[in-house]
Amino acid sequence: MDYAGVDGRRTDGTAAGDDEAVVEPPAAFSDRAVANDPELYEAFAEEGPEAWRRAADLLDWETDYETVLDDDDPPFYEWFPDGRLNAAANCVDRHLDERRNQLAIRWFGKRGERRSYTYLDLHREVNALAAGLRELGVEEDDVVTLYLPMIPELPIAMLACARIGAPHNVVFAGLSAEALATRIDAADSSYLVTCDGYYRREDAFNQKSKADNARLRADIDLSATVVVDRLGDALDVPLSDDEHEYESIVEAHDGETVEPVARDATDLLFVMYTSGTTGRPKGVEHATGGYLSHVAWTTRNVLDVRPDDTYWCAADIGWITGHSYGVYGPLSVGTTSVLYEGSPDYPDRDRVWDLIERNAVSVFYTSPTAIRSFMKWGAEYPDAHDLSSIRLLGTVGESITPKAWRWYREHVGGGEAPIVDTWWQTETGAISLATLPGITPMKPGKVGPPLPGIDARVVDEDGEPVDPGEPGYLTIGAPWPGMLRGLREGDERYRREYWLEGEDGWRYRTGDGATVDEDGYVSILGRVDDVINVRTHRFNTAELESAIVGADGVTEAAVVGDDDGKIVAYVTTRGDVDPDEPLRDAIGEGLARAVGDVARPDRVVFTPDLPKTRSGKIMRRLLEDIARGDEFGDVSALRNPEVVGEIESAVREE
Ligand code: PRX
Repeated sequence: MDYAGVDGRRTDGTAAGDDEAVVEPPAAFSDRAVANDPELYEAFAEEGPEAWRRAADLLDWETDYETVLDDDDPPFYEWFPDGRLNAAANCVDRHLDERRNQLAIRWFGKRGERRSYTYLDLHREVNALAAGLRELGVEEDDVVTLYLPMIPELPIAMLACARIGAPHNVVFAGLSAEALATRIDAADSSYLVTCDGYYRREDAFNQKSKADNARLRADIDLSATVVVDRLGDALDVPLSDDEHEYESIVEAHDGETVEPVARDATDLLFVMYTSGTTGRPKGVEHATGGYLSHVAWTTRNVLDVRPDDTYWCAADIGWITGHSYGVYGPLSVGTTSVLYEGSPDYPDRDRVWDLIERNAVSVFYTSPTAIRSFMKWGAEYPDAHDLSSIRLLGTVGESITPKAWRWYREHVGGGEAPIVDTWWQTETGAISLATLPGITPMKPGKVGPPLPGIDARVVDEDGEPVDPGEPGYLTIGAPWPGMLRGLREGDERYRREYWLEGEDGWRYRTGDGATVDEDGYVSILGRVDDVINVRTHRFNTAELESAIVGADGVTEAAVVGDDDGKIVAYVTTRGDVDPDEPLRDAIGEGLARAVGDVARPDRVVFTPDLPKTRSGKIMRRLLEDIARGDEFGDVSALRNPEVVGEIESAVREE
């Protein structure tokens, strides 16, 4: 088996929990929890794929499914293949009987604006937009690209697409024109919904000009563009003939209803581009039935969300967490969600706590990156607010240290709320490893065991399970409903990128290194491929490095993430080039252009050389250790060990 790369990963325990600590689910929580029957684990183990009927049966099906899983042609799996359903009908229409006047979305804008949508309001606007998109020519299976910030029009556009069976392709609003063009082109998309702009703190920022620049690229040919007016008079953004005002469309079609298109469960719900093992992002495809079932089931059983909650997933909808747990999860279970456009520290560092208090948020889901910032800003900010509405806390995206876990529980969870540390990926679609908060004891800093029905194992190079505490590769040995149905780049790439065939069948490779303890609790060590997760964004190192090398005078670059979620770029220059401020700026600009402002490096370290193995591979792990100020191990594999001292002093001086 080829698992290349776990060797020499950091196993210093930074990500691991302290083994002693086991925190039982509080009885008061368990008594009321959605999942509180410990037999659930056994039931899944005994029933196999059939157990996932529990998830699918949370949804309304247009045509009932009979088959749960078709696994005749691994690794191409089909979930609920003979069933038909519509995702938007499941997220909106079916709630109208019981909770038409209940709020679905409470939106808070960057400048203190507020807008609320009941399920009935949502139904009205989704239908109007769906009718408008149809009129513009969007047909079933046409991919619609959505390039919008955190405004209600983004989930509404996703649902309007889903309603007419048009897969959406959401591109994070902070990505550049070039990144947008690449994703429009790769997804073969002829329709775009974007906006005039949005606020960054006080300033109006022009989003439309980025969309315009993307359209200038020769291979982009859009049939129609819809533009949301986010900024009003703050920015004058003229529209051309093939560009349509969102507001006019919705007004023109107000009151119309569009019959939800029944989709095969295996039909595409959306594509989401994410970084993989090459410099080009890959298009992860999610099918309608399996994805929505898994997302709804985990929203209820892991995040414990019910209709009468006010729930807040702080992730941007431009990434998978926002898709699954900001839009499809909460709406499919019929709850009320907070949607927040602003920053956590504006106008002040208590903004998040203020929103939780004012909205009586009961379940809050965020990332360790955010929790680290909250800790740095100080406990006085949460402590000044009444957060007693919180019942459950969640984290996702990277490992949380036991210290941060305790801080989160103490200062946000009132010392009482369980925390679910949820592991999953763009590709897994939904939470795959986590404790069930009413059943499974927590270990601070450890993700926990796989969810019932998820056959995750940490294995060695030969695919054999590793001993407790030994580092290995996190793999999944059986299909699960939320899994990607394939890649836009085709079957071969999908198979090569993710699957290995062994004696015990096909195993999905997550790309993560991990350890597992005696109780089956998994700790994530980090990626073993060339993917880095920084500030909750996922990049491929080559994607960033090729943009840096594009700056005049740069010869080589290596990019790593440090402990604070910052991007550190190590850069070598041509002999006749001064590594000075203008070059630093040019590197930042190059990254902003190629990828987006989110990829600007926080630190650029100029160094005479990069550490390389004898085969010429850059030893990024060592650079990561230096950036984090960690001890590093053996450098004897290096062709140029002398460079290590030089790099360390460059880091110190910088
Ligand atoms: O390395 C793992 C890390 O995030 C990667 C997936 O990134 P992405 O597809 O952008 O999705 C992020 C949100 C679902 C994983 O391969 N990761 C995710 N959750 C955790 C994590 N690392 C440690 N602990 C987690 N709970």
